[in-house]
Amino acid sequence: MASGQRLAIDGGAPVRTAPFPAWPVYGEAEEQALLGALRSNKWGIGSELIAEFEEKFAALQDAKQCISVFNGTVAIEVALRAAGVSYGDEVIVTPYTFVATASAVLMVGGIPVFADIDPDTYQLDAQSAKGLITERTKVIIPVHIGGGPADLDAVLDVARPAGLKVIEDSAQAHLAAWKGTRVGAIGDLGTFSFQSSKNLTAGEGGAIVGNDDALMDRVWSFRNVGRVREGAWYQHEVLGGNARMGAWQAAVLLAQMTRAEEQLARREANGTLLTDLLGRIPGIRPLKRDARVTHHAYHLYIFRYDAAAFGGRPREDFFKALAAEGVACSAGYNPLYRMNAIIDASETIGRMTGTPIASVETNAERCPVAERVCAEESCWLSQNLLLGPEQDMHDIANAVAKIQKAWS
Ligand SMILES: Cc1ncc(COP(=O)(O)O)c(C=O)c1O
Repeated sequence: MASGQRLAIDGGAPVRTAPFPAWPVYGEAEEQALLGALRSNKWGIGSELIAEFEEKFAALQDAKQCISVFNGTVAIEVALRAAGVSYGDEVIVTPYTFVATASAVLMVGGIPVFADIDPDTYQLDAQSAKGLITERTKVIIPVHIGGGPADLDAVLDVARPAGLKVIEDSAQAHLAAWKGTRVGAIGDLGTFSFQSSKNLTAGEGGAIVGNDDALMDRVWSFRNVGRVREGAWYQHEVLGGNARMGAWQAAVLLAQMTRAEEQLARREANGTLLTDLLGRIPGIRPLKRDARVTHHAYHLYIFRYDAAAFGGRPREDFFKALAAEGVACSAGYNPLYRMNAIIDASETIGRMTGTPIASVETNAERCPVAERVCAEESCWLSQNLLLGPEQDMHDIANAVAKIQKAWS
């Protein structure tokens, strides 16, 4: 342990100078897959590669069906339309997520209603969600934040008696599993992203999974300009955009999937070790892993920072000192109800549909945990930091411990 050493930010030697593993990971498999897509002469509709990807990704996530789309944002929009969300309908979401979870609701004319998060897992607090249900509520969106499954038992217990659909935003949770089942189709629908940073990536891309054939027929239609499965080419029964994935994405994703299980195992082993090491440092509390989580995707490794144990230094100072030691770490999200895009669009749709909109102050009162977490507590390490050898975890923990000792 690097005790009593001068911090790198003060001119000392950094704990680490070697780079962490790079992302994305690719090789011969992706090159061959792309050439295969090129030479298939089917680059979009009718591509066998797209069909193969959908079949394999459904199997990977323990779902009956998968329908591919071009990104994770549009996946949520299509899923919401399929679930029947329309003008003035309310959708309960967490404020601790990427903007798309809430902006997708607004894009289909709905209104995001923000419930608080659990202080130990940062996942949607189902009891907070329960208190926000009105006669306008149609859907609850739990986000598997950081790749750790949300408490789906609690969310479904709240949603089912109220007749609400559950859409799992699984953009960060490829291969994650809750009580032995991979996430996505445990609720009614699940959406995924294959954007550049994601654990499974094609640069851009998305998917929707589900087990209900009728609901997945609606997903297919809204993804496919309102066409009807088995219908005529120019038969359009619902208003839908073109959200189809192309063959390049499918080809790359098929190649990426051959490494996904091994990468999951590596991230989980390193994540568990890091939790053990960081948990011993005063003022650092890794998020709790619920005993019902079978697999954690560790898209983000999230831990909690308590400035009091770091001489009262704010989190931004900690990030600067940690970066100087060779470890990149960031604060992550601000609560979405504080974002101008969300406030403005909510007010517009509220006005158009005569739906009351909660003010920023009301949302902050409803979500005290999200407020604190975003302002001073949460610290993120990105998933590629967990893809190297065990020694990398010791380097991360040693860097954090060195700073804590120097400042306490
Ligand atoms: C939780 C969450 N939801 C939705 C998205 C949107 O996905 P995309 O960037 O593919 O549109 C992302 C990631 O970007 C995300 O992290």
